[in-house]
Formats: sequence, C-alpha cells, structure tokens
Amino acid sequence: MKNVLILYYTQSGQLKEIVENLAIPLLSDPEVAVTFCDISLEQPFPFPWDKHSFFDAFPESFLQIPRTVHAPSEEVLQKKYDLIVLGYQVWYLSPSIPVNSFLKSVYAKQLFDTTPVITVIGARNMWVMAQEKMKAILKGLNAKLVGNIALVDRHINHISVVTIVEWMFTGKKEKFGIFPKPGVSDTEIKGASKFGTVLLHHLKSNSFAALQNELVSNNAVEIRPFLVEMDKKANKMFTKWARLIIGKKESRPQWLKVFNIYLFVAIWFISPIVYILHLLKYPFVFAKINREKAYYKAV
Ligand SMILES: Cc1cc2nc3c(=O)[nH]c(=O)nc-3n(C[C@H](O)[C@H](O)[C@H](O)COP(=O)(O)O)c2cc1C
Repeated sequence: MKNVLILYYTQSGQLKEIVENLAIPLLSDPEVAVTFCDISLEQPFPFPWDKHSFFDAFPESFLQIPRTVHAPSEEVLQKKYDLIVLGYQVWYLSPSIPVNSFLKSVYAKQLFDTTPVITVIGARNMWVMAQEKMKAILKGLNAKLVGNIALVDRHINHISVVTIVEWMFTGKKEKFGIFPKPGVSDTEIKGASKFGTVLLHHLKSNSFAALQNELVSNNAVEIRPFLVEMDKKANKMFTKWARLIIGKKESRPQWLKVFNIYLFVAIWFISPIVYILHLLKYPFVFAKINREKAYYKAV
C-alpha cells in the first residue's frame, strides 16, 4: 500500500479543483491510500480581497514571515507518506503566506522529513523564483523534491493582470467585459488528471528519477523567458520595498499606498520597456536563455 498526502491551500477553490483532478487516477487504484489536507490559518486572509488587505499582505509574503496554522487532524499526522503532493499559489513572487506558514510549522517538520514531494503550482504566471524559494524550504525540511507542475493563466501578461485583479476583488472567476476568464483554464484544470496517471506509474515503480522529464513532456511546465527576467528584476525591487515597509509602524498604510503606485507604474510603464529590451537582446543571450529554460523546467 502506498500512502499519498495531498496538502494544499486555496482561496477561490482553483487549487482544490486542480489537486482533486490530479488525484483521480490515484483514488481509483486500490493499492494507493490518498489523504487530503487543506491548510488553514488561525488568522485567515479575506476572499474576495479588499485593497488594503491585498497590499498589506506584501511585506510578510515577500519576506516569508509565517502566521500560526491550525493543526492538521490526527489522521493526517499519524501516517508516514510515500509521497506528498503540495498544492500552492504564489503571492508576491513567493510561496503564499498560508503555505509558507505550514512549511515553517512543527507539523511540516514531521510530515516532510525524508519524504518525496511534488509541487503543484496554480498561479497567474510568475512562479519561477517562488519555486526557487520553495526548493530552499523543502531542502531545510529534509524533503526530496521529485516533481513540479506549474499551471498558469496562459493569456498575455497584461490581460491576466486586468482579469486577476477583477477576480481577486470580486471573488468571481468569470469573463470580465471583453476580457477572458481569469486564472488556469477549465481545460487545464480538468486535464490535471493526466499528471496523476504519470505520478501513479512512478509511485508504484518505486522510483521518481524520471518523473519530472515525463511531466515536462506532458506540458507540466512552460518557461517564458521574459517572465523569468521580470521575476528576477522584481525580486530585487521587492526586497528593497519589503525591508523598507516592514520597518514602518505608524506610517505603514501610507507606504503601502506608495508601493501600490510603484507596482502600477512597474507593470504598465516599466515592464513594456523591459519587454522591448528583452526582444532586442534575445539573439545575443539565446544560449543562456536555453540553459535557464532547462534548469527551471527541472527539479
Ligand atoms: C496577494 C496575492 C499576490 C499574488 N501574487 C502573485 C504573483 O506574484 N505571481 C503569480 O503568478 N500569481 C500571483 N497571485 C495569484 C495567485 O498565485 C493565485 O493564482 C490566485 O490567488 C488563485 O489562487 P487560489 O487557489 O488561492 O484561489 C497573487 C494572488 C494574491 C491574492
């Protein structure tokens, strides 16, 4: 019998749908026991978001400062797992606060020690550096990252910015005016079961060595070089902003408003310039980009 823990956090339900579809092949195998566990915080975040809470989550998300999590049930804690499927979303280019909080808790120390882990990301589109942070957290827990699936909004970057804002602030994952539906497409959410089939095969053969290659050949990960470049540049800027804002007490709300303006300018005015520069230098950094693509697709 193989024990699989499916651990996730979700606000809209998108990640729950993804991991539930992924679990279908595992659930239909009598030799696999699947346990689901959703992460919850003692002091939860609102959904839909209001503007203040959304920006207020920035410094602690980016600096990866945990909150207190509710303990998982005894049923979850009493087993040793052959595999953990960890479903997480990205907040401000970092693993979201609820997931980061769980991974910093005593429960994670117990569950993740020496356990193979496959990460399942459901994000807008900028997840690569968050996954680098995730790799470091998992290493600290003595877990073994064996696979990664990253499902994102495939629309043009600026379109997904407009639609995710509408989604996060209304709570409705729907078409907005002339814009497409936000988030991971319904087809990809349903299609996540194909990753479960791949996973099951490797789980039962007792080897995850070739898992990520097979996931990648099933389109589990797409690397867009421009987004990786933006992710890295934004991480540098966010480091400065987060350190500045975390030190403010009384004036924190004012600084968050300034950060909001900065983010608006960066997305709508700076990133198009970076994009043009990216295209101009592309032929000269082609080899480096290909090396990076291979690296970020792997675990
Ligand atoms: C505060 C906040 C910050 C976010 N930052 C990012 C980000 O940096 N990169 C990204 O790709 N998606 C980002 N997202 C989108 C989430 O990764 C995720 O796709 C969305 O919140 C839906 O997840 P859910 O399953 O919790 O509903 C952010 C969402 C929130 C609420």
